[in-house]
This record gives sequence, C-alpha cells and structure tokens, in this order.
Amino acid sequence: QADHAIRPRRLGDYIGQPRVREQMDIFISAARNRGDSLDHTLVFGPPGLGKTTLANIIAAEMEVDIKSTSGPVLERAGDLAAMLTNLQPGDVLFIDEIHRLSAAVEEVLYPAMEDFQLDIMIGDGPAARSIKLDLPPFTLVGATTRAGLLTSPLRDRFGIVQRLEFYAIDELSEIVARSARLLGVTADAQGAREIARRARGTPRIANRLLRRVRDFAEVKGDGTLSAEIADQALNMLNVDSHGLDHMDRRLLLAMIEKFDGGPVGVDSLAAAISEERDTIEDVIEPYLIQQGLMMRTARGRVVTRSAYTHFGLAVHDQAPEGG
Ligand code: ADE
Repeated sequence: QADHAIRPRRLGDYIGQPRVREQMDIFISAARNRGDSLDHTLVFGPPGLGKTTLANIIAAEMEVDIKSTSGPVLERAGDLAAMLTNLQPGDVLFIDEIHRLSAAVEEVLYPAMEDFQLDIMIGDGPAARSIKLDLPPFTLVGATTRAGLLTSPLRDRFGIVQRLEFYAIDELSEIVARSARLLGVTADAQGAREIARRARGTPRIANRLLRRVRDFAEVKGDGTLSAEIADQALNMLNVDSHGLDHMDRRLLLAMIEKFDGGPVGVDSLAAAISEERDTIEDVIEPYLIQQGLMMRTARGRVVTRSAYTHFGLAVHDQAPEGG
C-alpha cells in the first residue's frame, strides 16, 4: 500500500521518458558488458517526475547497492567522507537536491568523482593534516530541479545528464492503470484517464490523486473508479477541469488581477501570493509554462491569452499567444 509498492523497480517497468529510457538502457548495458561502474549521472526536472525512482532503477539494473542522501543533509566534509568510505565497488551514491551542497562539501566531491580519491583535512590549527584515501569506483547519481542551479565545475563532472519531462496523458493513464492494479483498485480506462488528464503531467500527483479518488469511490460510490467518480472527487479536491490546482490558479489570477497580466518579477509575485520564490520557480511555474499559460521574458513573467480564456475572462490586448 505504501509508495514503494507501486514504484517501478526496473527500466522495463518504467513508463514514459522514452529518450531517457533508451539512453540509459544503452549506457547501462555498455558499462555492464565492460565490467565498469556507470559514469556519474545527473538527473534534473520538476519534482515528482521520477528522479529518485530512476536512481534506484540504475542501481537495480547495475546490480549494485544504492546509498542515498541529500545536499542539505551533508553539512560538513566529514559527512560526505563517511558516505564515500562506506561504498562497495560499483555502488550508486544518490545525492538528492545536489544543488544545495555547501562549497566545502563540493570540494571533497570533485576528486572523489574524477579520480576516486578522498582528499580531506582532519583537525585544525597547527595539528591539521590532510589525508588521502583511494575510494572504490562508484557512480554518483545527482538529482536537482534545475541543472542551472549547479555550479559549473560540479555539472561538468557528470558524464551522463538526463532531463525528465512532464508526462503525456497517455503515459500517465498507463501509470495510473498500473498503480490501480497494484493497489487492487478497480478502475476503468476512462476513470484512469480522467486522473491522468488532471495530474499536472506528474506521476507523483497522479498516484496521490488515485488514492484520494479511491477513497471517494469507496465512500460515495461502489468502489469502482469511473470517469464520473474521478470527476466528482477531483472537483472536491479543488483540481479544476484542466488539472490546475489551487496554487496554479492563485499564481495566474494574481498576475492577471494584480499585475495586469505582467510582465512582473518573480519576487513581486512571491510576495503577492505569500509563496516562496523557489516554490514558484521549481514547482508551480514549470507546468504552467509547459501548458502555454504563462511565459518567462527578459522583463519578467507574463500570462498568455490562454490564461485569460482558462478563467473565462476577456483577453487582454497585449497578452501574447502561448508557446
Ligand atoms: N510510477 C511513478 N512513475 C512511474 C513511471 N515513470 N513508470 C511507472 N510507474 C511509475
């Protein structure tokens, strides 16, 4: 019932991201045939698209263990050294939110990635010494929301860089149908599709909505997940007929009502809707931009004509066509 029960474990179970799957299949097969560890791999893209899942699949396909941590957890060089010296040959070290590593920790990571060397200072003052250790070959898998958040020396040390895209409705329908099967939920094709259509192109959201629609189906219906039950449940959850959630609508309406459609700077928007700038940039706007409801311009964010139409409002003269 928990999340790990529905997470795909192998590349063959992974739905969508066809380019990523094709490439990783080749790189993994080649590394395995040579008996090498896989090159360091950077995975970036909006939250919920499967970065962590992909890291786990890489380890499973390479038949090695994975040790997971995250940028903010690795506070000091010694924290990273402890992880690195705990690896077996070929293992995957997964660092989520890798853009949040401190400069001191990044410095330790460079020689580890490049030469499998641990080079670290111990102690301080006159007694300080530097120690060097050989590490086993390993694969660093780093995940981040935006590749542009990484320092360039760190980004340059990844031999493989994969960008995860929002999923198409057909792909999400398949994911919802698969999850429903694993959870023992009876869902018809139209019910799965309704959830897929309204899940912001994001498997994590689709799977969360599936669980809530199942609750609704069990209490308000006969337990079967149909398009009608899905529609009623999603309306109750404040997911609109185009799949925009409460925060999406708040952001677009603030741009329209408070800033005349823009251009407006992201910090002004953050203040207007009392939301963190990072949340707007990493979570909310990537999907709205992909859907052609807003754009980033040199002068700031602007809503498109489609955004006015979405809310049934008269289209502003100056509003651009969406992408
Ligand atoms: N569950 C979450 N993401 C998935 C994916 N890409 N394929 C299959 N199941 C998933």
